[in-house]
Amino acid sequence: MILLVNGPNLNLLGEREPEVYGATTLADVERMVREACAPAGVEVKAFQSNHEGALIDFLHEHRKIAKGLVLNPGAFTHTSYALHDALRALAFPKVEVHISNVHAREAWRRESVLAPAMDGQIVGLGVQGYLLAARWLLGRIAGA
Ligand code: DQA
Repeated sequence: MILLVNGPNLNLLGEREPEVYGATTLADVERMVREACAPAGVEVKAFQSNHEGALIDFLHEHRKIAKGLVLNPGAFTHTSYALHDALRALAFPKVEVHISNVHAREAWRRESVLAPAMDGQIVGLGVQGYLLAARWLLGRIAGA
């Protein structure tokens, strides 16, 4: 099982600033990632929350059963030392995804306090980033 976790405001994907984040909804993203993982027999457990503690609790609950994580932490990317520590406690591969190119926006979006706790980052490739991250995880799970 891989985890597909989205942080604050990503429940509004599709209607929130579509010029920045596009028209695809979070339900569409979850379906796309599930469809990409199904042929490999890998289940996707999706979770979204606007609350830092709820995201941390979800990660803790799955720390022993998940095989990988795709995470768009929303604005917690730039602020959450608590999420950084929670990610450090996870032994499986972890990919950070940002739909928009955070480097081409406000200066405060350029820093991710979570990136040092992740295996890698996919930034600015739209919702395709979620798929690319899931495909990389599938390779890792298969031993590639
Ligand atoms: C985001 C970028 C963040 O800076 C922002 O707070 C978001 C979405 C992205 O996917 O581009 O909520 O993570």
